[in-house]
Amino acid sequence: MQQHIPVALERCIALLTPAIVRATNPIVIDATLGMGGHSKALLETFPNLKIIAFDRDKGAIEIATKNLNEVIDRVVIVHAVYDEISEVLEGMGISEVEGILFDLGVSSMQLDTADRGFAYSQEAPLDMRMDQSQGLSAQEILDTYSRNDLVRVIRNFGEEKFATRIVDNIIEARESGTLKSTKDLAELVKRSIPAATRRTGGNPAKRTFQALRIEVNQELEVLSRAIPQAIKAIAIGGRLVVMSYQSLEDKIVKSEFTKATASHTPLGLPMDLPNSAASYQLVIRGSESATASEINQNARAQSMRLRAIERVAA
Ligand SMILES: C[S@@+](CC[C@H](N)C(=O)[O-])C[C@H]1O[C@@H](n2cnc3c(N)ncnc32)[C@H](O)[C@@H]1O
Repeated sequence: MQQHIPVALERCIALLTPAIVRATNPIVIDATLGMGGHSKALLETFPNLKIIAFDRDKGAIEIATKNLNEVIDRVVIVHAVYDEISEVLEGMGISEVEGILFDLGVSSMQLDTADRGFAYSQEAPLDMRMDQSQGLSAQEILDTYSRNDLVRVIRNFGEEKFATRIVDNIIEARESGTLKSTKDLAELVKRSIPAATRRTGGNPAKRTFQALRIEVNQELEVLSRAIPQAIKAIAIGGRLVVMSYQSLEDKIVKSEFTKATASHTPLGLPMDLPNSAASYQLVIRGSESATASEINQNARAQSMRLRAIERVAA
């Protein structure tokens, strides 16, 4: 089993520190609790910090609750999807928080638990739901979606050039009852890809698995709704830090940050008019990657893109 190492841990703490230390009773939202790696380090660093943590995976919450044992009195864990941030805060009577952290995607626990169906390298049912209590599994999507919808999912969310060939084979296999496991799907994708392409760029199933996971969990729609809520929820001087692991997520974060930091002053004026300067500023110009030494120790950090924004006015 792969050891869980929180990605860019020190950098995330450093980015959130100015927002946390300026408040007497700071609150941070960990939108993606996972195994609680980032939350634990934040709570240990700031003895007066309280965290509201979200995860849609009950298994993750169970593990995090154990890992956070010593600091659990300062954590409220919510089993919810992170596009419910506004609703949950309202329910708690909290109008703003000092910091919010998103560490997107699947956790090493989810990838390592074979029967969750996230890993193309392990034999398992095609599930891929982060919240196993609701929604369609990958198997149900593969069995019921139209040819066009499957092509759209695999092409758009997997950025897969050979989506139509893969989907033709999926339709054939589902009709003959031979598409029942992660292994069946991984082998089907492999034989759908031309031999010359197969020799480059890692396991060809990776893109199709990513696409199905995104569709199963509605990841991009949920993120598009969540980032504006998070931007709105930070106090003046508060910060939002987001780590993405694939370009489709990063694109959403970048575009919401660009909107929030744009001045409303009409183009051509030499300075911002009163009340039209942006209420948010980028903390990092563009995005940051993990350092080479971190990537050496933690392969998951390789595709990470980090972005951060601060609220500077009401
Ligand atoms: C990469 S892991 C987080 C790891 C965590 N930072 C740590 O150090 O242990 C991402 C977690 O976010 C959860 N998650 C992903 N999308 C979510 C969503 N839309 N709402 C709530 N939780 C989500 C996953 O279930 C997973 O446990």
